[in-house]
Amino acid sequence: MNLIHDIPTLRQALAGHTQRAFVPTMGNLHDGHLALVRQAKAALGSAPGLVVTSIFVNRLQFAPHEDFDQYPRTLERDCELLQAAGCDIVFAPDEQTLYPEPQTYKVHPPAELADILEGHFRPGFFVGVCTVVAKLFNIVQPSIALFGKKDYQQLMVLRQMVRQLAMPVEIMAGETTRSDVGLALSSRNSYLSVAEKDEALSLSQTLRQLLARWQAGERDLQALEAEAMAQLRAQGWQPDYVVLRRQHDLGAPLEHTPLVALAAAKLGATRLIDNLELAAPAPITP
Ligand code: PAF
Repeated sequence: MNLIHDIPTLRQALAGHTQRAFVPTMGNLHDGHLALVRQAKAALGSAPGLVVTSIFVNRLQFAPHEDFDQYPRTLERDCELLQAAGCDIVFAPDEQTLYPEPQTYKVHPPAELADILEGHFRPGFFVGVCTVVAKLFNIVQPSIALFGKKDYQQLMVLRQMVRQLAMPVEIMAGETTRSDVGLALSSRNSYLSVAEKDEALSLSQTLRQLLARWQAGERDLQALEAEAMAQLRAQGWQPDYVVLRRQHDLGAPLEHTPLVALAAAKLGATRLIDNLELAAPAPITP
């Protein structure tokens, strides 16, 4: 495996390899990232190709009060894990390499998708994500790029960006990897105390209950969402949102469309997100 920090060396290493499966990350890797790397390798199949992972903590997607400075940087360990998972190239640029001048050209995703939920509570977040991902796509020029469903809204925003800007890359989604007890893996889980790790499970349990009540026929969505938020508050969380939405555009739920329950909440000082999909009920055939 090749560890590369600058763009000319990366371009040289990529030359001649047209099939490139790309996994963009901010490092501090866990099994969820490694599952994406293995999925990338499988997606290339027997065709000669390269799996490229980028590691870059992108300042543009952090608000000034957020955890940019504390975000764990663990490059050496990340490289060991990536090598074992079958990655061919790690691209780990520093800020000067990716942003040698102020990044004044930015990708602004549409408000109806990017200013809701995460974008509402983290203004500018998706501008930062889209800008860095578009830039990384220009540098790596991947044929496939993989993103986890754990960041569900990010996946939808990036899919739409690629589609609307006709970027020549296929976006593939990876399922959320969970611990044995069901906690969605996240780099930010490392901020949690032992007690908080136990409590963190309540986030996915709350989502499961919300989906179960919807499936049981309850349709007062405002009440369902408000009760889910109240339950989290009673358990010591500070929820930003618990909602049920359509999968493809995160709009209000409709009958017979695939839905997704999404939540973001703070536990102590740590903000966690999670989501669970609900397939559309199969049509009744005579
Ligand atoms: O999901 C992440 O880790 C980041 O948002 C990404 C896609 C690597 C962009 O910085």
